[in-house]
Amino acid sequence: MIDRDRISRLLAERREGFSLPQAFYVDPALHEADLKAVFETEWLFACNSCEIKRPGDYLTLAVGDNPIVVLRDRDGGVRAFHNSCRHRGSRICGKEKGRATRLVCPYHQWVYELDGSLLNARQMPDDFDRGEYGLHPVHVEVICGMVYICLAQSPPDLARFRAGVTPYIAPHMPDRTKVAFEMTIIEEANWKLVIENNRECYHCAGNHPELLVTLVEFALPDDPRGPAQFKQLMDAKTAKWDALGLPHKPADGGEEFRCIRLPFHEGAVSFTGDGGPACRKLLGDFTEPDLGSVRMFRAPNNWNHFLSDHILHFRVLPLGQDRTAVRTTWLVHEDAVEGVDYEIERLTEVWIATNAQDAELAEVNHRGIRSMAYRPGPYAPSEFMLTHFANWYAGKMEAFVGAPSPVRIAAE
Ligand code: FES
Ligand code: FE
Repeated sequence: MIDRDRISRLLAERREGFSLPQAFYVDPALHEADLKAVFETEWLFACNSCEIKRPGDYLTLAVGDNPIVVLRDRDGGVRAFHNSCRHRGSRICGKEKGRATRLVCPYHQWVYELDGSLLNARQMPDDFDRGEYGLHPVHVEVICGMVYICLAQSPPDLARFRAGVTPYIAPHMPDRTKVAFEMTIIEEANWKLVIENNRECYHCAGNHPELLVTLVEFALPDDPRGPAQFKQLMDAKTAKWDALGLPHKPADGGEEFRCIRLPFHEGAVSFTGDGGPACRKLLGDFTEPDLGSVRMFRAPNNWNHFLSDHILHFRVLPLGQDRTAVRTTWLVHEDAVEGVDYEIERLTEVWIATNAQDAELAEVNHRGIRSMAYRPGPYAPSEFMLTHFANWYAGKMEAFVGAPSPVRIAAE
């Protein structure tokens, strides 16, 4: 039972620029509210469309208690459905990924077409109207190969997001990629701590030796903390990207999304142990490997890196108040050959190490927040994206409980 008055009181307690009141992270009652207020209303990253390339390819995921199947239909379109049979509700597709000419419920074998329509319901009476019992659809949008789903009846408008990120991502041609490797880790931490951890690099210097071989820890082109060398690096790289027609300045995503191209350290072109390429075959039509990375985040569950030679998608789904699934996919050019153009270990080792370090940090963070001594603490200036995220989250919760939105103070 969700106590809306209590959530309103917790929101009123919240101080902008500070971490959230304890209950938002650790109270199981708030998990249910998060699912309703955030995960059942927002667009969620599901997968890349290259994961369901052929008709009948499908991928499943669970949004709270809602099993979902995303698939490629016979016309080449991407569709999503509630993965729950219209007979007596059984989950239909059980595998995480698969291929099917039709979806057959394992319980009594009702058969569904790839467009969700009920094709066959054996032993049902002659006057049974199959047209009434198609799978319930879920909204889908594909943006530069990224498949987003929304469980809401009336999804939020994605036009600004689509227009904002497409110029950055389209040149990397995600449609011409394939999954080289995927990995899901379960973190014993609230999903918001997983996101918060990703939204700042204040923790990088002390925790991510592999990542910092290549990643510059400053998040803005004019970061006041950046040393003179960073400014020189930015000027040199952005001049090169301008000449290639590749956008790099921060997109105007407000609290909804962030998109920016940032350089690696001088001499580094990819997330590898030595900064050299991870895949010899570059994405799309690129001939220049030194493109830094387009870093794109979309609240609530997705961050990404688009490099010259591979793409990384991260998908976050809450499993409980203190458990979160983080799925990482590494995409390379669809014609790249393992063992010739890339090695899995070289491609993945930096982010496998980084994910493990971040998981540990989020888990330790969660455990510490459970303390009776926890009080919300102040974000550092470099944690400005946490203020964005906390404001965004509070806005979703306010909308859910019907409270008016407070006046926002710009964090930057
Ligand atoms: Fe699916 Fe009976 S529940 S066929
Ligand atoms: Fe990290």
